[in-house]
Amino acid sequence: MLLSQCARSQPISSTPVSGPIQFQTYKSEGGLLSLDLEAKAQSVQLGDRTANLLAYNGTVPGPLLEAKPGDKVQIRFTNQLDQPTNIHHHGLHIPPTGSGDNVFLEISPGKSHTYEYQIPDTHPAGTFWYHPHKHGLVAEQLFGGLAGLFIVRGELDEIPEVKAAKEEFLVLKDFALDSNGNISDTGHMAAMTGRAGGLLTASGQVNPAMTISKGGLLRLRLLNASPSRFFRLSLEDHPLHLIATDGGAISSPAELSEVVLAPGERAEVLVQGSQKPGEYRLLNQPFNPAQGGMMGGMMGGNQSSGRSETVATLTYEGSTEEIPLPTQLIAIEPLPEPQTTRQFTLNHGMGGGGMMMGGGMVFMINDKAYDPSRIDTQVMLNTVEDWEITNTGSMAHPFHVHTNKFQIISQNGQPVPYPAWKDVVSVSPGETVCIRMAFRDYTGKTVYHCHVLDHEDRGMMGTLEIQQA
Ligand code: C2O
Ligand code: CU
Ligand code: CU
Repeated sequence: MLLSQCARSQPISSTPVSGPIQFQTYKSEGGLLSLDLEAKAQSVQLGDRTANLLAYNGTVPGPLLEAKPGDKVQIRFTNQLDQPTNIHHHGLHIPPTGSGDNVFLEISPGKSHTYEYQIPDTHPAGTFWYHPHKHGLVAEQLFGGLAGLFIVRGELDEIPEVKAAKEEFLVLKDFALDSNGNISDTGHMAAMTGRAGGLLTASGQVNPAMTISKGGLLRLRLLNASPSRFFRLSLEDHPLHLIATDGGAISSPAELSEVVLAPGERAEVLVQGSQKPGEYRLLNQPFNPAQGGMMGGMMGGNQSSGRSETVATLTYEGSTEEIPLPTQLIAIEPLPEPQTTRQFTLNHGMGGGGMMMGGGMVFMINDKAYDPSRIDTQVMLNTVEDWEITNTGSMAHPFHVHTNKFQIISQNGQPVPYPAWKDVVSVSPGETVCIRMAFRDYTGKTVYHCHVLDHEDRGMMGTLEIQQA
């Protein structure tokens, strides 16, 4: 075991560094973000390959959307796919009903729908994203390429050191392509571990180039937009200074040697240009989510290739007067004590077919697979709840809640090192995680689910109804 880890520890820089990261970007103007968005199967460039994927407005990842607290958003969406789809605004605190973040909508092939909502004035700045959410098809459509960033600019962006930092957006996504550039079958294990592919991309490129100036700061906005792959990222010779998690800023930077991102999670980190000019690789280390980071084990199967891979390459360019790290970011208000504590267990089992590792696998929350006609959890507006989520199965499950962000209160009885706003938390086998959430404004139906999207599609989702008191 030890030996093979050592032998594998030499990163393989498979492809020469490609160009800089670029996005088609739509920004709000005069308080309105307005755009047409189309989902369509088409061929796109992925690194040096032509791939037949599913794209928003012809690009993978989709266009980068940017708005501010208080802005109105209008997305005139057209489904040019041959199957139904819809759009989820992951992490945005907006109404889950009507034409807001309504994942119960179904937009048939050829049909259009305008998503229309207002971002609250009090919305935190942060790195959010959008992706399809039609139950049963989510993993397939995301693996096909449908996902894009939704940036809310606000208070965090006005902190002088953060403002002075150069910014890069890294949408981390794996793909599996056959020799014709079509999405290849990821095998029967995919039903268990979730589909994953060997082609790692960052914002649609293989090993893109990033630059930092000597003395300067680089702000990396990281999103794991893969359906099931976990990322464990480190930058050679540079510590990462975490400034924001899923739901926005933390209260002060936290120095980390690596950042682990479960599917759906985001992190913003600052990098200091304090090294000698040279090339430094942003590496993804092998990671087995079922064992909390240790290697080996059967469930690691199609996730870790067993070696480090280069995600992007950082080089030095020019120099600036030294920008220090910010000392204070944005205070995180602790949530009041909960009125209610609920238990959730995550597990899987055999469905009707009863065959091993395949079609018969059902994923469940509290022993029930998702049923759209059932309301699993009813909460009252203007209350605070603790949810204790226990994984009694053998695979990690990144638990995600729509509409309201939460704070992690404890993980296996241990408090977290610093408070943070989250909307995804990975729960390893045997682990219990306690999260706290306040229901303060929106009523109506929304969902919670595992963000390994094959698990979600196979039942690991529940409906949450927030009721007017
Ligand atoms: Cu990104 Cu319901 O998820
Ligand atoms: Cu979501
Ligand atoms: Cu899961």
